[in-house]
Amino acid sequence: MTQGFCGRHKCLISIAAAIIVIAAIVGIVLGVVLTRSSNDEEKHERGFSIDYEHDTFLMDGKPFRYVAGSFHYFRALPQTWRQKLKTLKAGGLNAVDLYIQWSLHNPEDGIYNWDGIADVERVVEIATEEGLFVILRPGPYICAEIDNGGLPYWLATKYPNIKVRTNDTNYLFEVERWYSKLMPKFEKHLYGNGGNIIMVQVENEYGAFGACDEEYKEFLRDETLKYTQDKAILFTTDRPIDDELKCGQVKDVFVTTDFGLYNFSMVMYNFNKLREVQPKGPLVNTEFYTGWLTHWQEANARRGGEDLAKTLEYMLVLGANVDFYMYFGGTNFGFWAGANDWGIGKYMADITSYDYDAPMDEAGNPTEKYMIFRDVIKKYIDVVDESEIPEKIKTMAPGSLTMTPVNSLLSAEGRNILGSRSIESNTLLTFEQLKQFSGFVLYETELPKLTRDPANLLITDLRDRALVYVDEEYVGLLSRENVINTLPINADYGSKLSILVENQGRINFQIADDYKGIRGTVAVQTFDASSNNLYEFNNWTITGFPFDKSVDLESLARTSNGYQIDSSGLALNGPIIFHATLTINDNEEIFDTYWDTSDWNKGFLFVNGFNLGRYWSVGPQITMYIPKDILQHGKNAIFLVELQQAPTNLKMHFVKGPIFINDEKV
Ligand SMILES: *[C@@H]1O[C@H](CO)[C@@H](O)[C@H](O)[C@H]1NC(C)=O
Ligand SMILES: *[C@@H]1O[C@H](CO)[C@@H](O)[C@H](O)[C@H]1NC(C)=O
Ligand SMILES: *[C@@H]1O[C@H](CO)[C@@H](O)[C@H](O)[C@H]1NC(C)=O
Repeated sequence: MTQGFCGRHKCLISIAAAIIVIAAIVGIVLGVVLTRSSNDEEKHERGFSIDYEHDTFLMDGKPFRYVAGSFHYFRALPQTWRQKLKTLKAGGLNAVDLYIQWSLHNPEDGIYNWDGIADVERVVEIATEEGLFVILRPGPYICAEIDNGGLPYWLATKYPNIKVRTNDTNYLFEVERWYSKLMPKFEKHLYGNGGNIIMVQVENEYGAFGACDEEYKEFLRDETLKYTQDKAILFTTDRPIDDELKCGQVKDVFVTTDFGLYNFSMVMYNFNKLREVQPKGPLVNTEFYTGWLTHWQEANARRGGEDLAKTLEYMLVLGANVDFYMYFGGTNFGFWAGANDWGIGKYMADITSYDYDAPMDEAGNPTEKYMIFRDVIKKYIDVVDESEIPEKIKTMAPGSLTMTPVNSLLSAEGRNILGSRSIESNTLLTFEQLKQFSGFVLYETELPKLTRDPANLLITDLRDRALVYVDEEYVGLLSRENVINTLPINADYGSKLSILVENQGRINFQIADDYKGIRGTVAVQTFDASSNNLYEFNNWTITGFPFDKSVDLESLARTSNGYQIDSSGLALNGPIIFHATLTINDNEEIFDTYWDTSDWNKGFLFVNGFNLGRYWSVGPQITMYIPKDILQHGKNAIFLVELQQAPTNLKMHFVKGPIFINDEKV
């Protein structure tokens, strides 16, 4: 997506040309708008509709345009939703775009969650109270750099061969069931019923999936219509690439497109692609990319505000409706971060922060870009007064803590308290088969007597990363991401092989069956490299470590009598659980803080039982955001699960702001 804008001299010329074009278009647009409003004296009933002839939305009979922003409620604590929506509104926006994360609300088959961070109806209510319209994007697939694109993992447990996002009857059955729980919540909030939801999306960039399944598209349209009737506008969104707009288009559903940083001619080109499938009607960019996503082990994606502001203005001057993606990104708490596989066999896990270089940062503060965009937007639509912009959120850095090693995950206590009941199996069961969303699965077996020294251990189709132990001692690491699938093992190491597999997040884009665990085989080379002397294991003891809601780290801390770690800090006998108490005195005010992870290696962090997500010293994300709302006066329980190596001083340092290394303009 990287592109230069224009050289200095050429720039002046093209700006001059653009101004002329823009002036002409403004004239036309204003002309149309003024003529319309003067003819439009009669009273109109409440309703949100499309005037195809005049290329505009109509709200209660009057032309309406939205400048919206995407806000992921599932990436922000509910205590902060109102402040964040206030900030979004003060940025000049009149609507908020809400994706719905199915997997958050329906984490297990038949189990529904509508409380706390999952209280999506509350988000809609707050948006209404704050004077924002809502663009609802229920998916059911949302991509969003979230695990499995928001589809619940258990679909694959229940239907091992399910073909999601197609007319597969199992998928249709589950979508129908899900919508019957979800959609009634929004009925009274639809614009035509007196609420603030003006638009409801059908599927999500379905054209990019390539299936173009008419039966499925029409099914999903009808399932949505069942609840929306004519009380809001249904729409699709697809990239202006190849035939994706056509492939994603559903009969009788309004079409929008999505694109990021472009020059004026490319903006025209993109909207013309939209015009090819929908010759008339308002123009909408449903995902105007304000930044970009970032994976571990790569540079931190950044996108300049000034350049984006030009693209924004080109769209607004054409009369288009714009929806920023993201306006506020937030955090991939817990194990929700997804992954990508750009179709070239390269798996890449998403970082925990979903800052996205958006106009509001991970904590919800306006950035420089926020003001730049606001200055453009206010030329085109009414915006609230600048004094409405909330003050910057305060932060604190509560010194440093010395962490105490509690125990190893693979100790008897660790297995007892944190592990599921072990099962024997001839085959390598996946996380999905074990009904386990995320965390780790431990596969153990007996090693044969090795007659080659060393001999290669070979794991095919590992998902995603394996810490390997022989007789409970660490021997090495295998990785899907870095395409490393063999490991030499010494002949005399021992006889027990333990493979601890970490799920690093399911693929969120172009999703297929990204089932976790080991999908292939585990073998060791026995005698002679020239013949096919692979000893394939087929007798496993399997233990899950889900680190889900039921995780009881406190109890592990209570049973431990102190655990000795290697002087180098290496986690030689399995991941190590560390503990400390952060005390905040009653007279101290609590603010957001950030943990600087740079001395640690790889793992995840719990504060007061809340999983704040994964850390990994390779970056580019170096700090972990700790929102003030999970902290409390008095004692705060901090637990780290460190997979690889702790700093020898065992210190955990806090800082006042985020640190990302290796920024890259994209
Ligand atoms: C329904 O799914 C089948 C199997 O994936 C596919 O071949 C067929 O084209 C789909 N139906 C339509 C109308 O697209
Ligand atoms: C606009 O961008 C496109 C694609 O990046 C490029 O090919 C084209 O030359 C640019 N046009 C102008 C006028 O800069
Ligand atoms: C499988 O492994 C278990 C535990 O190591 C052992 O007790 C059992 O005899 C093995 N079964 C077979 C069929 O090898």
